[in-house]
Amino acid sequence: MKILYHESSQTFHLQNDSISYIMTILPGGHLAQLYFGRRITDREEFGYLLETSLRSQAAFPNDDGRGYSLEHLKLEYPEYGCSDFRQGAYEIRHENGSRLTDFIYEGHDITPGKPSLPGLPATYTEDDSEAETLTIHLADKVSGLKLDLLYTIFSEGGIIARSAAISNTGEKAVHVERAMSMSLDLPDAAYDMITLNGSWARERIPETRRLSHGLQGVESLRGQSSHQHNPFVALKRPNADERNGEAIGFSLVYSGNFLAQVQVDNYDVTRVMIGINPTWFDWQLAPGESFQTPEAVIVYSSTGLNGMSQTYHRLYQKRLARGYWRDRVRPILINNWEATYFNFNESKLLSIAEKAKECGVELFVLDDGWFGERRNDYAGLGDWYPAASLLPHGLAGLAERIEAMGLKFGLWIEPEMVNPNSDLFRAHPDWILHLPDRKPSLSRHQLVLDFSRKEVVDHIHGMIAGILRGAKISYIKWDFNRSLTECGSAALPAERQGEVFHRYVLGVYDLYDRLTKEFPDVLFESCAGGGGRFDPGMLYYAPQAWCSDDTDAVERMSIQYGSSFVYPLSSTGSHVSAVPNHQVNRVTPLKTRADVAFFGTYGYELDLNKLTEEEQKMVTRYTVFMKRYRELIQFGTFYRLVSPIETDSCAWMVVSEDKKEAIFAYYRILNRPNMGFERVKLEGLLPGESYGVWSYQSEDVPPEGILRGSFYGDELMNAGFIVSDLASSKVGDNVLEASDFISRIYHLKA
Ligand code: GLA
Repeated sequence: MKILYHESSQTFHLQNDSISYIMTILPGGHLAQLYFGRRITDREEFGYLLETSLRSQAAFPNDDGRGYSLEHLKLEYPEYGCSDFRQGAYEIRHENGSRLTDFIYEGHDITPGKPSLPGLPATYTEDDSEAETLTIHLADKVSGLKLDLLYTIFSEGGIIARSAAISNTGEKAVHVERAMSMSLDLPDAAYDMITLNGSWARERIPETRRLSHGLQGVESLRGQSSHQHNPFVALKRPNADERNGEAIGFSLVYSGNFLAQVQVDNYDVTRVMIGINPTWFDWQLAPGESFQTPEAVIVYSSTGLNGMSQTYHRLYQKRLARGYWRDRVRPILINNWEATYFNFNESKLLSIAEKAKECGVELFVLDDGWFGERRNDYAGLGDWYPAASLLPHGLAGLAERIEAMGLKFGLWIEPEMVNPNSDLFRAHPDWILHLPDRKPSLSRHQLVLDFSRKEVVDHIHGMIAGILRGAKISYIKWDFNRSLTECGSAALPAERQGEVFHRYVLGVYDLYDRLTKEFPDVLFESCAGGGGRFDPGMLYYAPQAWCSDDTDAVERMSIQYGSSFVYPLSSTGSHVSAVPNHQVNRVTPLKTRADVAFFGTYGYELDLNKLTEEEQKMVTRYTVFMKRYRELIQFGTFYRLVSPIETDSCAWMVVSEDKKEAIFAYYRILNRPNMGFERVKLEGLLPGESYGVWSYQSEDVPPEGILRGSFYGDELMNAGFIVSDLASSKVGDNVLEASDFISRIYHLKA
């Protein structure tokens, strides 16, 4: 990996074994994009890639001798307002009403490693040899503003991390109204755009559409990254698929309002931007102040979408997530939410925990309802002290009893929220996000605390840190159950109200930062009504996230399939729940529920006492299975094989780093009579290696499975693995009773 600068042609070439990212400084000082893609050989100059030939109707920047119109160039961090008519990456309002800023190259630094971003989550290095960073310094002569563009290339994988920082070295305050984290112009528009869309209980379902002229993209204006759209967009060549072809991902390390936008102009140039959503964004930058954008992580893959996802998985698992739990297998937990909802007391919790312990579970999590007057969702948020009526021995006493059983104890909190019916709200009615003279909208009967105010964050920190100090708590589920409305702060002046959405997110990061530093052994799982804030920003603090409130096995196939476009299995909270399922009323076999939940952090979301003895034995077997293979599943290389969104089946697999071991799962959603034959081509194996294949298809198998035969890696990857014996007609004895919602799990070992 290296970052080269060719003085004679003023060209930058960021290069590693996978990619090249090439830019040049134009004669007028703007930065032009020359190439981004698979690695190409370096040369002194790449001027031929500039394509400056002019079209009629062009406008020219009024500086003599530039000889080009910005409209016709591929640019790095473009401005609107002086000869480029496309969307700009930034917009700054000056005191005199002008919105034009013209950033011109001043200099650059190339440094080993990667700097951290003040107050913001970002990818990092542990050793300077892992990455190199180019900082390009630009300045606007008229206003005295400076712009730093940061580019980090990692030594491995097609990864470029980008962000921008604007500093006011002038004499007058300005307002930053738009500051994208990155902008990239690609020379053609032959791409499909993939976004991860959904809603509550059906998050991150991949959707593909062909790029067309004009604007397209996704955004969140909900104050959270959202269930509706993930802060991610990918472009892939129309002929690219999971295995082959070019794909480029753009992922934003941020948890608030975002915009991911693709604009195709009429010369078929594709401009991609991702960053904080400019709607209601207006950041006052006083002289001497700087504004740092969140980080965008660009991943280029020439090995299809799986190649792109695997690069994100490795990076986000190892160099975005942090702390004690980063490299450790995750405890198998039981959560009481779907088991009891608000209807519990200490003895009921203990009986759930006891049975769970018997079945091999390692962590008991007490969900919503344990504090203040919280007997339903109308009251109590903000009053973070245990309800004596439910927990006669307090949290410490309950935790002690759970620990005495040999389980760890975990707790649910929703620290950013308050119910109007709470002591906290009665004491501090102005501590909520609200606008003068307007009534704040309630959602789930709750209001949002104004985390843009340090005293509010301090107060909540005091309460939560007190709880963590006062009882033996090993895990925290940090929930967030409504979007932001009437987003204003009583503590900021009128001209700074446009900062509240972003300051809120910074406040959340601050609280996460303090708590994770103070309690480094506690495992944090983020949650937002399920997966409403499943984003890279959260992963920096909480290495796992509750993926969705939908725990149905069939729904979860699509949700986990889509989540895996960006997020590693070690981050994907997945549990076995009761049937009929509480979200869709569907009845699926216990085995299928477990076979889907294995591909994540794994746990249970039901009262195991309510299962039959036979089912409890099965649960114990599944727990043994997960303990045996979770290192491989959570930290191996994940491949999507068959899409549950495009077909009536689903298949995926995980391969160990040395490629000598794998777990392959196949799911049939709906059964059909007299079905066709079906094979699944496996991935990532060693072609010449012979693999034993053990199945777990029947309920009563030993922990190591039943040996079904052995096959060479190249057979499994090219001829494929036969799954047709799941058809409804029985052939020989190698069959399972076919029906809807069935699954198979295989262990492969060289
Ligand atoms: C959210 C979470 C659930 C549960 C409830 C409790 O919906 O996603 O898992 O914790 O809140 O109110």
